[in-house]
Amino acid sequence: MTAIKKSYYIKSRDFIRAGEASIKIQSLLKSLSFDPQLIRRVAICGYEGEMNVVMHGGDGSLSFAINADELVMEISDDGPGIVDIEKAMQAGFSTALDEHREMGFGAGMGLPNMKKNADDIMVESEEGHGTRVRLVFLVNKGGDDG
Ligand SMILES: Nc1ncnc2c1ncn2[C@@H]1O[C@H](COP(=O)(O)OP(=O)(O)O)[C@@H](O)[C@H]1O
Ligand SMILES: [Mg+2]
Repeated sequence: MTAIKKSYYIKSRDFIRAGEASIKIQSLLKSLSFDPQLIRRVAICGYEGEMNVVMHGGDGSLSFAINADELVMEISDDGPGIVDIEKAMQAGFSTALDEHREMGFGAGMGLPNMKKNADDIMVESEEGHGTRVRLVFLVNKGGDDG
């Protein structure tokens, strides 16, 4: 059963509003008293995902579902897609343009950080048909150390 579902539009190349969806998710999780460490991991993944849509992708969305035992975040866009997903997942790999690097982006650590911070990550992409990243975060109830 899904208790709460949210979806936010992400506009490609809109560096002004980039990151807003992740901030909203972060506030929502705070208001529901989720573990701060879990919120931090979700926020990192959301931010990196949003930035990738804004920088590399096309228009897209970030959707988020809170289920009883897991949080599921899906970031998808209708941009050019990722040619080599395995390569894109490697630390330091980036196709960011100079103009992105000048803004401080393009370290090639976004996808590796998402992988590190989520309990599960699935990247689907087809050249010319966009990208979809699905992240799962397990919710450990009852204070066991997970
Ligand atoms: N939504 C996307 N659409 C197209 N390409 C993407 C997308 N997300 C990531 N990529 C590709 O994967 C590479 C690595 O992404 P990432 O690890 O976040 O590093 P960075 O964003 O700093 O380049 C990007 O440089 C880009 O080539
Ligand atoms: Mg990135």
